Amino acid sequence: MRAICVHAFGGPEVLRLEEVADPRPGPGQVRVRLQAAGVSPADVEVRAGTFVRLPQLPYTPGSAGAGVVDAVGEGVAGVRVGDRVWLTGAPTYAEACVVAAGRVHPLPARLSFAQGAAIGGSYATAYQAIHLVAGVRPGDHVLVHGGSGAVGTAALQLLAAHGAIAVGTAASEAGRAHVAAQGAAALPHDAWDDLLAATGGRGYDAILEMRAEDNVLRDGALLAPRGTVVLVGAHAEARFNPLELMVRGACIRGMATFLLTADEQRRVELAIAAGLADGRLVPAVGQSFPLAEAASAHQAVWTGAKAGKVVLQTA
Ligand SMILES: NC(=O)c1ccc[n+]([C@@H]2O[C@H](COP(=O)([O-])OP(=O)(O)OC[C@H]3O[C@@H](n4cnc5c(N)ncnc54)[C@H](OP(=O)(O)O)[C@@H]3O)[C@@H](O)[C@H]2O)c1
Repeated sequence: MRAICVHAFGGPEVLRLEEVADPRPGPGQVRVRLQAAGVSPADVEVRAGTFVRLPQLPYTPGSAGAGVVDAVGEGVAGVRVGDRVWLTGAPTYAEACVVAAGRVHPLPARLSFAQGAAIGGSYATAYQAIHLVAGVRPGDHVLVHGGSGAVGTAALQLLAAHGAIAVGTAASEAGRAHVAAQGAAALPHDAWDDLLAATGGRGYDAILEMRAEDNVLRDGALLAPRGTVVLVGAHAEARFNPLELMVRGACIRGMATFLLTADEQRRVELAIAAGLADGRLVPAVGQSFPLAEAASAHQAVWTGAKAGKVVLQTA
């Protein structure tokens, strides 16, 4: 099969398409013939060698995808050959991958494989930020600071399903149209006065922050009393204003999906499955690239204006 292989950390050019042996599922694993893979900012940071956790070289990137199960290892129950699935936790920039059976989930028939590849990572991150970190309640005002990307789109859909009042930001007109299509008010990232005015001046109960280094300094002034800024994304050091937090009794909290306990992981997966099944969660694909153009996909995820998830077609 063909797979992207990285032999040295570096620029997009280190993503090389190679012929490798088909992986074989061991006990408790399944093999998925992949149709699409999700591309995330973390994939870019790992490839560049700047992420907090790095794999051993050589490696195949990716951690989210969708396809059809074509082999099942010993002791696997509940997953069958022929199942359409979305998955996390396996190298997905490839035509096939093996993964623990517990990491594959049924892909509803009305969703494409590209949409399936947009689920893993994004919805779990958004759910964790909204429900497990910020504790958003129905009727709360929530700012998704970076609403046009993969996590932002998932967050806006989860907030709408939860009955929260959401504002999402995007750089481009197309990004703001995409935010509005998720049922949220849409504004530019740095429209500070308008962002506060959108709450009638009361401020946000929660801010899901995708770009901490650009925004945390001013986020405090957008918060309602006892509000929370959730640090979802950051790529550099950030400054904050302690006085803005003190006078509101507010806080800034970090999060990482790898911190989820097994029980929390199960709760997140059940919520996502329910939302996908009843149609309240509709994964959005912004841009799609062939597997051979993984380098272009990395450039798009790092520099482009977003309107959904960047995916690779792996078949
Ligand atoms: N903590 C965790 O466990 C976890 C898990 C997953 C992802 N993340 C991080 O979360 C962030 C979002 O991930 P993603 O998959 O949604 O990435 P993505 O699809 O590339 O989206 C990035 C988002 O950031 C927005 N953005 C760009 N400049 C901004 C600014 N100055 N202020 C506010 N937003 C800005 C983009 O908007 P425009 O394109 O419209 O400018 C877009 O909405 C990334 O930093 C990622 O590494 C963290």
